[in-house]
Amino acid sequence: MKEKLKKVVKKVIGKITNREEKPNLSQEEIFRQGYDAFLKTGQTPHDAFMANINLFCSTNGVFNEAFNDELKLTNPPQPVPETLQGIAGTYTHNDFIKVNQELNEKGYVHFEKKLSKELCERLYNYALNAPARIPPDYKEIIKFNPDKPLAEIYRLDIQDLVNNADIQQLMIDPVLVNFARNYLGCEPIFDFPAMWWSTAFKKEASKEAAQLYHFDLDRVKWLKIFFYINEVTPENGPHCYIEGSHKPNAKPAELLKRAYARIPDEDLKPYYKPEAFKVACGEAGSMFIGDTKAWHKGMALKKGHRLVLELEYTSSLFVANYPKLEVVQASAGFKEFCAKNKTFATNIHFKN
Ligand SMILES: [Fe+2]
Repeated sequence: MKEKLKKVVKKVIGKITNREEKPNLSQEEIFRQGYDAFLKTGQTPHDAFMANINLFCSTNGVFNEAFNDELKLTNPPQPVPETLQGIAGTYTHNDFIKVNQELNEKGYVHFEKKLSKELCERLYNYALNAPARIPPDYKEIIKFNPDKPLAEIYRLDIQDLVNNADIQQLMIDPVLVNFARNYLGCEPIFDFPAMWWSTAFKKEASKEAAQLYHFDLDRVKWLKIFFYINEVTPENGPHCYIEGSHKPNAKPAELLKRAYARIPDEDLKPYYKPEAFKVACGEAGSMFIGDTKAWHKGMALKKGHRLVLELEYTSSLFVANYPKLEVVQASAGFKEFCAKNKTFATNIHFKN
């Protein structure tokens, strides 16, 4: 696999050098040296983070997908029962295959099942009282007041989220974990929870709130689970994405020359069919999974607010350095799951 990958990379990008910091080293060498350092220290050097972006853009995602094939070999998926039950319903082995095929083909899969009204209410009320931070500096901790928004986005505190019993229950949901296992092709690591309010504070698209098309690139491969906690209509900021654009070689080389940039809609329209531009509206409790290597954005809000909960699973913590998740309150079920699933819990630290 390593040899095959090297050929692909050489063919597509040739020898790109980072002349400022490490003359004569190719981006792949910087990336691989960074990975070796990560294996020893758990930390990714900044030049390896940059090499991941450079390799993604210069190979149109081919390098990153091939490197995940290498990661898969070191961390094979564990066997699961024929049928699993979870928040998204009951899934047989064949059901999981169908979901994974759709995910590979389209980049996103939407589910009929929704979070219960009671759970949405609990999460909504939790988020109203939870510590949040706003741009530009995200320093001061405040609470979101729906009647008086002070910014276009309120990001809830990650360490607080991970201590919420309902969120812990969703994190270990066997069906959601298995979607990630199948898509990543390895035993998934729980990466982080995220929850945020989007508001109509600014009427035009905000870079802070990721309201222009972009792709994420903080890992080699990952899967995100999205939950709408309140109803999302075209008015209050639906998640938008370009179907199929997560695949290797599915992005216009011209646009990748801009590297890790935010792209206006108009610049993307010439490259994709109109029907590939998807707008994900949904009732409170709607859930979908997605590979945000695809072009995606939140639509700017015209009115109201939107509360989203997101969970990310990954094949490796390599590429970006995020804080470890510190759990001080956990149910017995959550503790037991983490004890039995060491890979899942790689990034989770129990404080007592
Ligand atoms: Fe994003």
